Amino acid sequence: MPLPALLKDTLSLPLVAAPMFLISGPALALACCKQGIVGSFPALNQRTSEGFEDWLVQMNEELAAFRSTHPDVKTAPYAVNLIVHRTNPRWQADLELCVKHQVPIVITSLGAASQVVEAVHSYGGLVFHDVTNQKHARKAAEAGVDGIIAVAAGAGGHAGTINPVVLVHEIREVFDGTILLAGGLSHGEDLLAAQALGADLGYLGTRFINTTESQADDAYRNMIIEAVSADIIHTPAVSGVPASFMRQSLEAAGYAMDRLNQAGEVNYGEKLKPMDDEAKAWKTVWSAGQGVSQIHDVLPVADLVRRLSEEYGQARARLLSTTS
Ligand SMILES: Cc1cc2nc3c(=O)[nH]c(=O)nc-3n(C[C@H](O)[C@H](O)[C@H](O)COP(=O)(O)O)c2cc1C
Repeated sequence: MPLPALLKDTLSLPLVAAPMFLISGPALALACCKQGIVGSFPALNQRTSEGFEDWLVQMNEELAAFRSTHPDVKTAPYAVNLIVHRTNPRWQADLELCVKHQVPIVITSLGAASQVVEAVHSYGGLVFHDVTNQKHARKAAEAGVDGIIAVAAGAGGHAGTINPVVLVHEIREVFDGTILLAGGLSHGEDLLAAQALGADLGYLGTRFINTTESQADDAYRNMIIEAVSADIIHTPAVSGVPASFMRQSLEAAGYAMDRLNQAGEVNYGEKLKPMDDEAKAWKTVWSAGQGVSQIHDVLPVADLVRRLSEEYGQARARLLSTTS
């Protein structure tokens, strides 16, 4: 699937740095965009809509200045995540701000994508919607989204339970737009694997927690370096819906570990906790995906993107030489 025009000549790698609650802000998003990958943050990482608007102004001004002083550098557009759910009373006000400041890409989680699509398309923006199964992908396609994020098993945050290979195929059956694959991707070759499956872009969260521009504590980053995939517990105990957390941080917060392994299909019905409770919980219990086992360092975004590019190029060359 060809990429939307907005992304065609602005990316140095087929990569979006995913929005992360309490972790990503303008510093991380700007560093990503300046390296030619989409940077993002959740609107809710600012406590008020006024604060969120300040961030949008900062993003637009800094990227415009960077583009004018670096006309030959591929500079990616940025994205903002809106949680479209009745537990988030701000989402409509925040959407109006996205329209006012013409946010290039709006990433929606949970319901009501069609209202967002109409608003964002009015100024030429794109809407990407994240899903964990084909049923929700079909709904998003009907709502007219431009991209669907396949949140597969092993992802950080509110992860899905479906194998990534199967999930990408299931989404492609019902959607011919841009597909982004999320869940445990950490290396450049993982981006190539996503493309080989039929996805257009990789969507990486956990890997970007361990950058110097993220808002994570050092203890959080160190726990990621020490954790392996078996340490990731997918449980509804913290959020009300299943999400991935590091065992070490659940233990430190006093959760009874023998009761936690009750993951199931994500169901955003009545169960999601109010946003203030979520904020309290996620501050002390740290989310990460199974890709932790592949993360051994903390480095600036520029160095990470350089390494990912090298790995991507090497993997492509290796594959071409073995298949020709
Ligand atoms: C700490 C953390 C916070 C997250 N917060 C959000 C969020 O606020 N909104 C959202 O749409 N996704 C959120 N996610 C999910 C990511 O956007 C992305 O789907 C996921 O991290 C991809 O999987 P990976 O971590 O294995 O790369 C979060 C993930 C993590 C690890």
